[in-house]
Amino acid sequence: MKRILITGASSGIGMHLTYLYLSMGWHVIACGRSLSKLQAAFQSERPALTLCTFDINQSTEVITKLKQIEALDLVILNAGTCEYMDDPLPFDSKLFKRVIDTNVIGTGYCLEGVLGNVKQGGQLAIVSSSVTMLPLTRSEAYGASKAALDYLTRTLAIDLSPKGIDVSLIRPGFVDTALTQKNTFSMPGLISAEQACRYIVQGLEERKLEINFPRKFFFTMKTLALLPNTLWRRLAIKMIRGV
Ligand SMILES: NC(=O)c1ccc[n+]([C@@H]2O[C@H](COP(=O)([O-])OP(=O)(O)OC[C@H]3O[C@@H](n4cnc5c(N)ncnc54)[C@H](OP(=O)(O)O)[C@@H]3O)[C@@H](O)[C@H]2O)c1
Repeated sequence: MKRILITGASSGIGMHLTYLYLSMGWHVIACGRSLSKLQAAFQSERPALTLCTFDINQSTEVITKLKQIEALDLVILNAGTCEYMDDPLPFDSKLFKRVIDTNVIGTGYCLEGVLGNVKQGGQLAIVSSSVTMLPLTRSEAYGASKAALDYLTRTLAIDLSPKGIDVSLIRPGFVDTALTQKNTFSMPGLISAEQACRYIVQGLEERKLEINFPRKFFFTMKTLALLPNTLWRRLAIKMIRGV
């Protein structure tokens, strides 16, 4: 039985990935920070499901618990948070730290705990976001955290290759989860968490370096990213002014 570890499994993308891999006959180690939330997400006990709890910001807890989980075929580091900066004046450094701590530093703790337990020929995937393709309004903290994950993942893809571990960068567009349900703006190309997970599973089966979806949204972002920065800046300012 193949073994996968998924962080952020108590809701949204991580929860649906857990269900999908269970249905494919994998043993899933589903991680979240609250046992009751994990139990509510998966209700009945299953032999192929192990629940593991830690707050990704607690380094000792994360590293100690993850070091005990052996022989992993696949690890998906998916736990993350999003907070927008409504106004950068004054700059909210506490918000900035919260987002960077959870999304970037927390991922580092997970890597320290888990990487030594990925089998030869195994895989690591890190969930970033399509936000990294363009500077988007109010995304000072979230965008910076995900851009850091992009660089981290691409570097790991080089340095873990000789050690027999394939690495994938996952960059979703808008996915309907608790994280986006609080958004008050329109979300182009919004897809369900189930659909997002099908893209992720397929991309990981193909051992893709980058898994970007949904395709139409990705190509729109990619085209906009080709614009000179000055032109994109002008367009983005017009959009926030609603003109
Ligand atoms: N939804 C989108 O449109 C979208 C787009 C691009 C990228 N993403 C990324 O996809 C990933 C999953 O997000 P989602 O949309 O599925 O949102 P979600 O439903 O809010 O899930 C986030 C998961 O991360 C966990 N988490 C957050 N902070 C944590 C902490 N300090 N310690 C441990 N676990 C923590 C949450 O646990 P709790 O239940 O305990 O809070 C939850 O299980 C995130 O990295 C997000 O940035 C999402």
